[in-house]
Amino acid sequence: MRNNIIENKAQISIIIPTYNESQNILNILKSIGENIPKNILTQAIVVDDNSPDGTGKLVDDYLKNVKKIAGYTIDVIHRTTKNGLSSAILSGIQRASGDTIVVMDSDLSHPPQIIPKMIDALKQYQCDLVIASRYITGGKILGWNKKRQMISKTATIIAKKGLGVKIKDPMSGFFAFKKNIIAGLNFDAIGYKILLEILVKKRGIQIKEIPYTFEDRKFGSSKLGSGIIIDYIKSILKLYKYGKIAEKQEKRPSVKFFSKAARFFTVGTIGLGVNYLISLLFADGISNLWYIHATTIGIISSMTSNFLLNKIWTFNDSDFSLIKTLKQYGKFITFSSLGALLQLGLVFYLVDIQNISYPISLIGAVGFAAFGNFILNKKWTFKEKLWN
Ligand code: GDD
Ligand code: MN
Repeated sequence: MRNNIIENKAQISIIIPTYNESQNILNILKSIGENIPKNILTQAIVVDDNSPDGTGKLVDDYLKNVKKIAGYTIDVIHRTTKNGLSSAILSGIQRASGDTIVVMDSDLSHPPQIIPKMIDALKQYQCDLVIASRYITGGKILGWNKKRQMISKTATIIAKKGLGVKIKDPMSGFFAFKKNIIAGLNFDAIGYKILLEILVKKRGIQIKEIPYTFEDRKFGSSKLGSGIIIDYIKSILKLYKYGKIAEKQEKRPSVKFFSKAARFFTVGTIGLGVNYLISLLFADGISNLWYIHATTIGIISSMTSNFLLNKIWTFNDSDFSLIKTLKQYGKFITFSSLGALLQLGLVFYLVDIQNISYPISLIGAVGFAAFGNFILNKKWTFKEKLWN
């Protein structure tokens, strides 16, 4: 259902999920109409989950008779079953034509008078997300019993300590954001906590909290039961895992690059030790090989141990399928030999042509060859982007 008085695309879409809210929904829709900024086209979207008390039908009937307010349209999405608050909000967002989304409850706990302040804050602080907050100075909660206060506080602490969220009221159900910030986001949409998902999955966006007074509903009853609490725990666990994975991926490219280079050089140093020990071992330890043969075994051993350590540790590659591993090994040996030749040539050039002292030349040549070796192996042996 749509009351089209204005064909233009709305600028703000207000998402209002309902389940058995027949005593509240018309009041909230009216109150929104009275409070939204007059110069901004606003679209309210009621998302009803086939409420047994007829909330959805009530809104449909209301829209047939109501005198339309300029700049304010109301849509209703009728879903067939009760599918949870988060998923209702997502359905609403899909329908939204505004670039700015406001999410709020339908039971008048979220005062529509705050909406213009949220919209202003988005502009004024140039932020992506504004949260109406009960837990910053100036905000409060009226009408909740001790138990309900406890549940809310506990959930808030879990979100802050467990997920590292810095917001004072991450459990808020009342917030406004620029729609583009959730583009491409994959929501779990479990239970109530859609805002928390945005906070965890969108680190680094600009956020502002503004205070408001939450007043418990006068009509109908809360849908937050034990099922929602279990859902909450599920979503916390999911988001926690998500956070861990993101942490690993989040590293700046420079940090990743240089930590890999450092591991590569460490492996090289270990290789020198391996080379030395194995050569000695074969020359006059377990066997009495000719020293040239012993050194050859030493070189092959250290190249092999270097290869394995770099594969597993430096480049985190645990794929040991035969063909692939052999190809990598071949390239690694080739690059190492090239590195040795390069080093030799460079030392010659620095000492004989540039007249630089041998110790200094050696350091330069070893460093250059090792770095070149790292780059070649990163790119060609382990097929990584050079800078990622
Ligand atoms: N479509 C749909 N489907 N709407 C739902 C569903 C659902 O499955 N479950 C709840 N709603 C609607 C309700 O009709 C109401 O408009 C809104 O979602 C919030 O539900 P309440 O049951 O009134 O929640 P509450 O008052 O206990 O919890 C409030 O405070 C929490 C913070 O402590 C809400 O604002 C929560 O979002 C908030 O996390
Ligand atoms: Mn409520």
